[in-house]
Amino acid sequence: MKIKQVLLKDHTTLGVGGPAELWTVETLEDLPKATEAPYRVLGNGSNLLVSDAGVSERVIRLGGIFREWSFDGWVGAGALVSTLLLKSVRAGLSGLEGLYGVPAQVGGAVKMNAGTRFGEMAEALDTVEIFHDGAFHRYHPEELGFGYRHSELPPGGIVTRVKLKLKELGEAAVRAKIALVDAARKGQPKKKSAGCAFKNPPGDSAGRLIDRQGLKGMTVGKAMISHEHGNFIVNLGGATAQEVYELLRRVQAVLPLEVEWEIWG
Ligand code: FAD
Ligand code: EPU
Repeated sequence: MKIKQVLLKDHTTLGVGGPAELWTVETLEDLPKATEAPYRVLGNGSNLLVSDAGVSERVIRLGGIFREWSFDGWVGAGALVSTLLLKSVRAGLSGLEGLYGVPAQVGGAVKMNAGTRFGEMAEALDTVEIFHDGAFHRYHPEELGFGYRHSELPPGGIVTRVKLKLKELGEAAVRAKIALVDAARKGQPKKKSAGCAFKNPPGDSAGRLIDRQGLKGMTVGKAMISHEHGNFIVNLGGATAQEVYELLRRVQAVLPLEVEWEIWG
């Protein structure tokens, strides 16, 4: 186990966030000790808005054996979804295509039930192993309350590994599915972000609503509502959490949208 002081802006895709104590767990035996005091779990930091003051709880990150994977068995929750997807394409295995372009770790993708209209994480799961209350427990997806960008993991639960449910489809067919998802993402910005800031309201798109209100390009300091997609707030370089909160507030002053990100601190 490694413990160090970090700035969370270096561990989040939005590039925002203050100090924290980062505990990188590497073996199964590390988890009981790491979870002895209040903690938060960090995946790839791609759905987080962390305060400029950082967080007082320890931040647990999965390293070591939690990043290992194999298709006939279990995949570590610290593995990147993108790596897994690449391997599954080459093996002609289908099930993860809807997550193409989602910069998540497996554990973060489970927690958020990440995906697109082409498919979500929950659909690719056979079994999820979760550490909570000092022990490892196994769940089937129907026990975890998955919905749109939503799950109901046990309180304090850390996803440690998953057993995937992938189907043999052949490489060409898997690539064809990925091409559809790739095309749907073409309008998304390349600058630093945490993906969509708001959940889509039923039957509509938050990005379209923000666009229609003429809010694209609105800037507070170094944080801006993307010109390319209204539901992305981008960091133009050195943005603060305060600046991002202010943009969220300005959008919510005109539209009743629910924030998709998890806000820390
Ligand atoms: P983090 O952001 O680090 O954490 C998110 C939540 O998961 C936190 O509550 C954290 O505590 C929890 N968590 C992380 N790991 C674990 C674990 N092992 N056990 C328990 N809890 C854990 N999302 C989509 O759904 N669809 C998209 O198309 C999409 N596109 C994106 C595009 C870009 C460019 C970016 C930056 C983000 C995008 N996102 C998208 C958002 C984001 O990638 C997802 O929400 C993703 O699931 C977050 O995973 P993460 O590993 O980064 O988790
Ligand atoms: N639109 C606009 N203006 C904009 C943005 C979108 O008019 O600024 C219109 C588009 O032209 C389209 C409609 O709104 O007609 C929907 O847009 P898009 O296809 O981009 O989908 P979205 O609903 O905005 C959702 C997910 C994304 C996911 C894409 C691709 C949410 C909140 N967003 O976006 O997920 O990548 O579909 O399938 O569910 C995320 O959750 O972080 C995320 C990026």
